[in-house]
Amino acid sequence: MVACAAARSVRGVRLVLAGVLLLAAPGLAAADSKPGAPPAWSFNGPLGHFDLESVQRGYAVYAAVCSACHGLEQVHFSDLAGMGLKVEDIQALSAARQIADGLDAQGRVQRRPARPDDRILSPYVSPAAARAANGGVVPPDLSRIVMVRPGGASRIYSLLTGYAPNAQWQDDRGFRNPYGINNFTAMPPPLHDGGVQYADGTAPTATQQARDVTTFLAWISAPHQDERRRLGVGAGLYLCFLAALFMILTRRIWSHVRK
Ligand code: HEC
Repeated sequence: MVACAAARSVRGVRLVLAGVLLLAAPGLAAADSKPGAPPAWSFNGPLGHFDLESVQRGYAVYAAVCSACHGLEQVHFSDLAGMGLKVEDIQALSAARQIADGLDAQGRVQRRPARPDDRILSPYVSPAAARAANGGVVPPDLSRIVMVRPGGASRIYSLLTGYAPNAQWQDDRGFRNPYGINNFTAMPPPLHDGGVQYADGTAPTATQQARDVTTFLAWISAPHQDERRRLGVGAGLYLCFLAALFMILTRRIWSHVRK
């Protein structure tokens, strides 16, 4: 009888939740349809957490697109294990990347497949080479970009999705983008529908890629954030428990004095 009532009430809660989600859905869709409007990030807020599947898809976008111009020099391939990958996955990921490895006898840059303990280097051998290839601007390192640039994850998402369709380089100023510094950026629009293949079958629209790569960049900027939050919640509960115990004991100990 009690079990039955409990089951009914669980079903009731589910129905109410489904109703709330249905009511909220058009609002979410409307927020998404505005060009450059960032989604609600799961990793924001005191109890936020990273969606590790999105983080992994985001690395796929970084590896296929962004790594042509940007490095993650404070990150070792082995650090990517925190995305929920196994040792073999890390070995495969690193071996798929070629990194510069000194000069040969003729002074040409030699390259070799990366190893898990290598850093994720910039593809350019020097800042001068990076500048020459990017209209006079060095593409910034992305290791901590979400932490160090004002606006954080949301501005990066907006920048990636905020280009006008068929944006063109305009005389020495760059590509028009309302989220760039002075409304311009030297970065060509990097994301296009179907520009990457996702192993998990998610449709690789440009907006989905922007969402995933931004989630990846937020995670790589603070890979231990989820653990810290879990520890914080645990410590808070423990302190509440201790406070309750302390109150009970104090009452017990002093009870005969009050009589
Ligand atoms: C063809 C080279 C190229 C590719 C590919 C590229 N970028 Fe960039 N990116 C640049 C350049 C150049 C800048 C510097 C822009 C400036 O300062 O005007 C830049 C700047 C940035 C910035 C800093 C922007 C700011 O205003 O704070 C972020 C974030 C960024 N890129 C992310 C990405 C991501 C994510 C990808 C992959 C989806 C990517 N980039 C792909 C060249 C590139």
